[in-house]
Amino acid sequence: MQYRTLPNTDLKVSAIAFGCMSTVANPTYPGAEEQQVMDTIHAAIDAGITLIDTAPMYGNGESERLLGLAIKDRRDKMIIADKASGPTLSKTEILADCETSLKLLQTDVIDLYQIHWPRRQVPIHETIEALDTLKKQGKIRFTGVCNYGPLDLGDWLPLVDCCCTDQVVYNMLMRAAEYELIPLCQEKNVGLLCYSPMAQGLLTGRFASADEVPVGRARTRHFASTRPEARHGEAGCENETFTAIAQFKAFCEARNLNMAHASLAWLLHQPTITSVLAGASRPEQATANALAADIQFSDAEIEELNRITQPVKEQLGPSLDVWSSEARTR
Ligand SMILES: NC(=O)c1ccc[n+]([C@@H]2O[C@H](COP(=O)([O-])OP(=O)(O)OC[C@H]3O[C@@H](n4cnc5c(N)ncnc54)[C@H](OP(=O)(O)O)[C@@H]3O)[C@@H](O)[C@H]2O)c1
Repeated sequence: MQYRTLPNTDLKVSAIAFGCMSTVANPTYPGAEEQQVMDTIHAAIDAGITLIDTAPMYGNGESERLLGLAIKDRRDKMIIADKASGPTLSKTEILADCETSLKLLQTDVIDLYQIHWPRRQVPIHETIEALDTLKKQGKIRFTGVCNYGPLDLGDWLPLVDCCCTDQVVYNMLMRAAEYELIPLCQEKNVGLLCYSPMAQGLLTGRFASADEVPVGRARTRHFASTRPEARHGEAGCENETFTAIAQFKAFCEARNLNMAHASLAWLLHQPTITSVLAGASRPEQATANALAADIQFSDAEIEELNRITQPVKEQLGPSLDVWSSEARTR
């Protein structure tokens, strides 16, 4: 495992992190039995993973509860990234939500507390004041944001002392961050935490066509808006997506590489990446994913992977929202 410094802190975090979303039932995943979740988190930790990401939204607190239970005896070795997920991001709401999260996690402090989605329900100053209060109270150590595109991040950064990370969707089939966000993060020393690094399983090669993808995962802008739960109203790019996946599969087969590993490793070769949040619902997935940090690609191989996925990048454009219409770009 490689370890990288969380920008503007002295914290070292594993380059492959564990994301808890797929451990509990939610609109994307069916969830797993409690013992399986414990075993999966323990497998991730045993494989050298130190950073674990969760959110109140994942199973309405259930993911935080299970994580708290799983790491009770090793809390001091772990770095917890949690989120303020509420609908308004008002000060009262954030202070109360943080209290609930701390109880569920069975801890006194959250290491990295992130705003889950940019919302403009209350003045941005009020949200920042809530984070400052929590820091002064010792309930959170460092702060970050999620899903902030260049516009929201540009408004946020001048108002805060420090924003360690922006957590956004980034994988070979969703490269929107490359247009403007990565250059901005590089310039401002904000680390990128990549979510859905395997495109929720698409990049593992387990689905040969769009029709095989479970309904909850076929909601992204890769898929046609005629798919049952899609809400983006776009035509999608199913052909480009599955052509890229087939070419990526051939690339991996020629090198005897596991596709999940290769998709995670491609991200670790990109600039400003602090850590890649790999989801897993079974121990063997968590163990296997941790090995991705050992793969080294040549410049020519990275170029080849970029070429394979370029048509999907062009279709999806610079919007960082993978579920909603491009018109709502941030
Ligand atoms: N901030 C945000 O708004 C946001 C949004 C989404 C995600 N996230 C974070 O990012 C984390 C990961 O994202 P994600 O779950 O959307 O996508 P992901 O990590 O790309 O996909 C995870 C899923 O891929 C499959 N998988 C994982 N490893 C595998 C392997 N080695 N071989 C074959 N299949 C494998 C599993 O599916 P099965 O369970 O079906 O086996 C797993 O649940 C989340 O847990 C969460 O922490 C944040």
